[in-house]
Amino acid sequence: MHHHLQAKPPTLEGLAIYEFDERSDSGNRKVYAALPLVFVYSPHPKKEIAMSSAVYEKLKKCESCIRQVTDFIPKVAIVLGSGLGDYADTIRVTAQIPYGDIEGFPVSTVPGHDGRFIFGYVGDVPVVCMKGRVHYYEGYPISDVVLPIRLMKLLGAEFLFLTNASGGVNTSFHAGDLMLLTDHISCFAPNPLIGANIEELGTRFPDMSHVYDPGLQEIIKTVAAEQRIFLQQGVYAQLTGPSFETPAEIRMLRTLGCDAVGMSTAVEAVAAAHMGMRICGISCVCNLAAGMTASPLSHREVQAAADEAAPRFKKLVTEAVKHFGEIR
Ligand code: HPA
Repeated sequence: MHHHLQAKPPTLEGLAIYEFDERSDSGNRKVYAALPLVFVYSPHPKKEIAMSSAVYEKLKKCESCIRQVTDFIPKVAIVLGSGLGDYADTIRVTAQIPYGDIEGFPVSTVPGHDGRFIFGYVGDVPVVCMKGRVHYYEGYPISDVVLPIRLMKLLGAEFLFLTNASGGVNTSFHAGDLMLLTDHISCFAPNPLIGANIEELGTRFPDMSHVYDPGLQEIIKTVAAEQRIFLQQGVYAQLTGPSFETPAEIRMLRTLGCDAVGMSTAVEAVAAAHMGMRICGISCVCNLAAGMTASPLSHREVQAAADEAAPRFKKLVTEAVKHFGEIR
């Protein structure tokens, strides 16, 4: 059975009407379906073609929204995870845009994830900073989760600095450790590149051999040594959340070679790698993961550990970004 599909202009708000020619042994017939305009994974490739161009259109619309407010061209895009929320204080700010002011932009619902873009300078380096990110567990389609990353690249950012809070899976880690991401496991979350490839952004089958730029990793390790900031390194696994993992899931992740687990970052890195960005990531290991200690996990505990690590974390990010400014 084949589905031939043609997107028609939306006739109901937020819905697109699709027309299918369904061919079966008993003949042809037309089938109609109303689909939300957001991207949902679909086993029908042609549906995704229509939707991927919608993803790109939304992105371009967000870009023009921002360009009405500022002509700032960032070099480095920084995503602030839990604990780096007040990092913006260290930026010489030139413009701020609340996510809510950007048409179609996903707005976070997690307390402590106040959402806006901050444009300004770290040292002499022009940066765009995401204060707050959206997570897949909030219910957004994965294309919306990575939209901000794509947007920052369209605005000019060639470098991406990802930060997050995670649970330690490696038994030698301690709560409060910072971990440099050397690689990730993203395949427990949906791949943000599913759907027709957006040719304007990158190729269909992008290489993921060096998602986290080896040169940037070296810079971060050097800076950490200079600043006497203890830095672990390892593989970050993204699970969808929002529930924390079970002890069995943590044992599974350890067997698979994960050192830390969280609910963000890897899908963002995949979207950024697709666009050829130079990526680095640091995770604040806020707790040892489920089953590794006697205490149950709580968001408050995670936040408290993130707050304790914040001064070190900020220093490391700032000094590394200054060095990135010297590249090319
Ligand atoms: N698991 C998943 N995400 C997290 C954790 C954890 O233990 N801690 C902070 N973010």
